Amino acid sequence: MKEWYDKINQAVDVETLEEIRIAVFGKKGILAAEFVKMKSAPNEQKSQIAKDLNTHKSALMNEFTAKKITLQTQALQEAMKAEAIDVSMFSTSSQAGALHPVMETMDRIVEYFSSMNFSVKTGQMVEDDFNNFEALNLPKYHPARDMQDTFYFKDEMMLRTHTSPVQIRTMMSHKPPIRMIAPGAVFRRDYDITHTPMFHQVEGLLVDKEGSVSFANLKYILEDFLRYMFGDVKVRFRPSFFPFTEPSAEADISCVFCKGNGCRVCSHTGWLEVLGCGIVDPNVFEAVKYENVSGYAFGLGVERFAMLIHQIGDLRSLFEGDMKLLEQFQ
Ligand code: PHE
Repeated sequence: MKEWYDKINQAVDVETLEEIRIAVFGKKGILAAEFVKMKSAPNEQKSQIAKDLNTHKSALMNEFTAKKITLQTQALQEAMKAEAIDVSMFSTSSQAGALHPVMETMDRIVEYFSSMNFSVKTGQMVEDDFNNFEALNLPKYHPARDMQDTFYFKDEMMLRTHTSPVQIRTMMSHKPPIRMIAPGAVFRRDYDITHTPMFHQVEGLLVDKEGSVSFANLKYILEDFLRYMFGDVKVRFRPSFFPFTEPSAEADISCVFCKGNGCRVCSHTGWLEVLGCGIVDPNVFEAVKYENVSGYAFGLGVERFAMLIHQIGDLRSLFEGDMKLLEQFQ
């Protein structure tokens, strides 16, 4: 037996030790063979032989377990040494990604309205005539349809020209009251320094009991929102027209002071138009079969906000993947 103690102790790695374990403790191992031999020993010796064998068995097992732990620890230490990383070495520079300024601006807008308990709806980018136009009080041949040069598919399907169809989809699938915003991409056939065929809007809609929603409520939240986005600006509302709101208005802010570098974004009038809004037109409620309710709605272009906040002159540059421009917003 002694040789097996030595063999266990001299094993150089876990694999050799495992071979020894099988040779000693396995079904066909030496211990098993000794127990078989014992059966043919004289009866009076049997119990002593069994006792001895069991003593060896547990002693060998202890030996084996101790050796295994030693070898495993050794192997682990060697592996750690081999895979060690020199943290003091200079690394090649790595580039971290960053949010696109349009998405960052959209996130901020969503953050504001989420904090005001507006839930976020997404709707769909491929729309039908009912949701994009008809239910928004833009019947066929209405001249205001031309305001939104549309990309059409077959069968009166189209890429949505604004996020307002999400108002309709939400009201068709939910009972009032409603308090929602809809951020997302919209599409129009237009291309110049202030227009790209795809851009982003955030729509807002609030509907509650008849007589409980006023233009004053709308003004309050939009002023608060615009100050959250642009800092200490003045806000004014100008009468305007949208088929789905009556009365309608556009909100302007006074010149924007850019954060940090003291710059100033201004138009010749001193005012910058930033969003459209109004009290929901009764025809819209009729289209979605809502009764005895009142509400307000608003919609804004996210790129315009991003351009004002970051002083970007040409809207198209936001979509050219120009790293020189994008790296400034890391
Ligand atoms: N849908 C309008 C647009 O795209 C914006 C708007 C939304 C105006 C909601 C009023 C109310 O120009």
